[in-house]
Amino acid sequence: MNQPYLCVRGLQASYGRAQVLFDVSFDVFPGQVITLLGRNGMGRSTTIKCLFGMLPATGGAIEVDGLQTIGQPSHRIARRGLALVPEGRQIFTDLTVEENLIATARPSRSDSGTNAWTLDRVYTFWPRLKERRNNLGWQLSGGEQQMLAIGRALMTNPRLLVLDEATEGLAPVIREEIWRTLAELKRTGLAQIVIDKNVRRLLGLADRHYVLEKGRVVWHGDSDALRAQPDIVHQYLGV
Ligand SMILES: Nc1ncnc2c1ncn2[C@@H]1O[C@H](COP(=O)(O)OP(=O)(O)O)[C@@H](O)[C@H]1O
Ligand SMILES: [Mg+2]
Repeated sequence: MNQPYLCVRGLQASYGRAQVLFDVSFDVFPGQVITLLGRNGMGRSTTIKCLFGMLPATGGAIEVDGLQTIGQPSHRIARRGLALVPEGRQIFTDLTVEENLIATARPSRSDSGTNAWTLDRVYTFWPRLKERRNNLGWQLSGGEQQMLAIGRALMTNPRLLVLDEATEGLAPVIREEIWRTLAELKRTGLAQIVIDKNVRRLLGLADRHYVLEKGRVVWHGDSDALRAQPDIVHQYLGV
């Protein structure tokens, strides 16, 4: 296979004196979807914070597209092609849908043509956002906010989209829509890291899975391997 787009090795991180990541290693290859699995508090969001430079890693290595990113500011890392749909969405609630989408927009470096994400393409992808384009963020439903958060991330024309708690707090019908969206984005060749509680859905979507337990990757493998080991799911995810 070609080079990994993202390469994480022996990542360590702490909050104050409390170390919470001890040894986290994983790769994301171009176009690949991986998951970080684990019960609450096992270090999935902390790993994401380190990827985006929101929390300084205290050890290990992170390479994006072959370049070290530890110590770099978040905006520099984002410019290398990473985009985040954060836990709790964190859209700008006092900006309109359209202002949210434009706020972080960045033209694609590689596709000058049809594959670049533009306002028009986001609106074609989610006609609902177009209908709501002049509404303020706080006026949207949870599902609309999540679509906006994904649309806003896509407007940076990322090569790797990271979703922390992709469907948390959404109605079942909206969750289905998000899963369909992620599958469709995968078909466009967009690499993803997806965190969610729905292991069944993640098995269908992702190529590889990394199980975190107390800040360490304790198991990794592809969907077939995880399906063949229901005890792993039971032991580490409690489902
Ligand atoms: N801002 C913070 N300050 C101190 N400890 C934190 C903070 N955020 C998370 N933690 C702790 O770090 C550990 C990992 O948390 P987190 O990465 O959020 O887990 P996950 O996303 O897998 O649920 C937990 O023990 C959690 O309590
Ligand atoms: Mg979390």
